[in-house]
Amino acid sequence: MEATHGGPTASRRRPVRAVRPIPPDLDTPSLVIDLEVLERNVADLQRVADEAGVRLRPHTKTHKCPDIARMQLDAGASGITVAKLGEAEVMVEAGIDDILVAYPIVGQAKLARLRALLERATVRTTTDSVEVSEGLARVGRDLGRPVPVLVEVDTGLHRVGRAPGRPTVELVTEIARISGIDVVGLLTHAGHAYRASGVEELRSIAEREGRDLVETAERCAAAGVPIREISVGSTPTARVVAGVAGVTEIRPGTYVFNDVQQMRLGVADEGSCAARVLVTVVAHPTDERFVLDAGTKAFTSDGSDGPPFAGRGVVAGRPELRLDFMNEEHTVGHRTGPDDVSIGERLEVIPLHVCSTVNMFDEAVGVRGGALVRTFAIAGRGRMR
Ligand SMILES: Cc1ncc(COP(=O)(O)O)c(C=O)c1O
Repeated sequence: MEATHGGPTASRRRPVRAVRPIPPDLDTPSLVIDLEVLERNVADLQRVADEAGVRLRPHTKTHKCPDIARMQLDAGASGITVAKLGEAEVMVEAGIDDILVAYPIVGQAKLARLRALLERATVRTTTDSVEVSEGLARVGRDLGRPVPVLVEVDTGLHRVGRAPGRPTVELVTEIARISGIDVVGLLTHAGHAYRASGVEELRSIAEREGRDLVETAERCAAAGVPIREISVGSTPTARVVAGVAGVTEIRPGTYVFNDVQQMRLGVADEGSCAARVLVTVVAHPTDERFVLDAGTKAFTSDGSDGPPFAGRGVVAGRPELRLDFMNEEHTVGHRTGPDDVSIGERLEVIPLHVCSTVNMFDEAVGVRGGALVRTFAIAGRGRMR
């Protein structure tokens, strides 16, 4: 049984690791972005792409924010990736003009919006079927120029796409015959890398991701359809797959902020996690148990927890504080050692999955050296159509 909490005790001690300063007048819960870490992450992946001689087309699903997309482009990104047309519309509205919509576009309403986007910006999209391609081709014929498409390949996630090799080659040759569409490349997303059990498995998934596409592209060329673009990438696989010969473009997204999932995979640490949710301790009913003022309405229920980072998020700099469960507006945690919290104290929580957390906020605040420097509008949040 838990003991009743009687306030801070003699055993209370300072945080185990250094925590960066928090702007004192910021209300909670707030989404806080450390600008220095963000800038470092943006520059770091750009360097990976540049050194490997591939283009970086970051997936903006992580930040959903035109200002951060602009930072990525200014650092050298060749364009951006989005999932939904609504996200593309937000980015085009903000003046970003080279966009890959990496999602099958189905239905008249969406095809009309794609057409409008194609008239305003350089837009590519993806397909893994003749049916989707027929719709895209109608838009191309109507516009008087073919719609550039990448055919999505399943390299192990088992989401969208046919298997590499013959199933994809057959599909590509069939799609290439449709007038109004231009098959510019092959695309895959190795999301199954998130299930990798260690560094070795991660590396082999990343190598497979690249090689499967390059080999399939060679077979497409032999079948009469030359492939110009080999587009791959996730945050866990980006550094390895960028180096696979034949890859032309990588599309990591989460790397801008990082999160506990990336920490668990060993591709990030607390110091490279740029986005955190600032919360307040609002209850401490027993000696061990404490309650924070944000739950699934801020963090969502997304992301699985597991060793070595047990719990529903990581409290930055406070490894002895464990977050056990979330309700809509509460996170309940307990302390596993002498480090304690007090009511009114503010903590920074690194989310399990940062992309879905960002989607819950209208804006984020950018801090530098503990001072609030700017706000970011998360203009693409909620754009699910
Ligand atoms: C098609 C596609 N490309 C790229 C990415 C970016 O991957 P990550 O979030 O691991 O950076 C995603 C993520 O969901 C995706 O679905």
